[in-house]
Amino acid sequence: MVRGVALGLIVALLAGCDDGGGSSAEDAAVAVDGAVDAAPMVDAELDAAAQPDAADLPDAAAPDAEVGGPPVAWRLLCAACHGANGAGTDLGYELRHPVRDYAEWVVRNGRDMPGELPATMLAYGPDQVSDEELTAIFDWLDDFNQPATGTGLYLDYCANCHGRDGRGGVVGVTMVGRTASSIRRHVRGGEGGRNYPLRRLYMPAFGADVISDAELELIIDHVAGL
Ligand code: HEC
Ligand code: HEC
Repeated sequence: MVRGVALGLIVALLAGCDDGGGSSAEDAAVAVDGAVDAAPMVDAELDAAAQPDAADLPDAAAPDAEVGGPPVAWRLLCAACHGANGAGTDLGYELRHPVRDYAEWVVRNGRDMPGELPATMLAYGPDQVSDEELTAIFDWLDDFNQPATGTGLYLDYCANCHGRDGRGGVVGVTMVGRTASSIRRHVRGGEGGRNYPLRRLYMPAFGADVISDAELELIIDHVAGL
């Protein structure tokens, strides 16, 4: 039952991806075979998970027009939880515009914060996802349009840690009542250096090349409205 759901999900996502990319039906057939091979691992995670609600999944058939199809490794190993287009599902976070060093650490080491999401992020070694494949995945995730609103920017860059509602999220640090100066200082400076494993202490620094001064003000406006 769960296995059927997992396979159906992967196949549906793969079928959706195919619309967006230039990949041929032959590629898709190969990819589906690969997904079947990879399924037992995904299944093991889904066993512990609530059955995903198909209505909550991103629309896999409508990728951003300007972004090419995802790397094969993404479709086989990541899309089932993080969405065909990196927009996230009930099983995994939105991953667009990743903070590279931090994101690489999570992929190589895995992570499981109890109670946050019903699935587990396993560690993927270079034998499963090579450094080149990981770079291709991150490059592809970076190609998506920068959100144009404070809410969109907040959901893209802050929500995985502080919660989509801004009330604390997995790090337990609420955004409610934060001053503009505190937000500017933390976003530009980060916290905790490179202590990626410290979920409640590490926050990445975002330079103006990633979040511009104008975009930072939009985020501040969004936080003020929480
Ligand atoms: C079985 C579902 C599942 C699969 C498959 C999966 N992930 Fe994850 N991923 C998660 C979950 C759940 C988390 C959150 C872990 C936590 O914080 O406890 C996560 C977290 C992450 C994060 C950190 C995001 C953040 O903002 O903290 C990155 C980066 C990531 N995954 C990348 C990947 C990549 C790349 C792949 C494919 C090679 C992948 N994941 C496959 C479920 C999955
Ligand atoms: C990878 C997780 C992560 C991400 C992403 C993240 N933060 Fe944080 N943030 C934290 C953690 C953990 C702390 C607490 C650090 C400490 O207390 O040492 C924190 C602290 C803060 C604080 C200070 C709160 C206080 O105690 O005064 C602000 C403001 C803040 N974050 C805003 C943001 C904004 C805005 C974004 C998005 C642009 C963001 N954060 C993205 C993890 C994150």
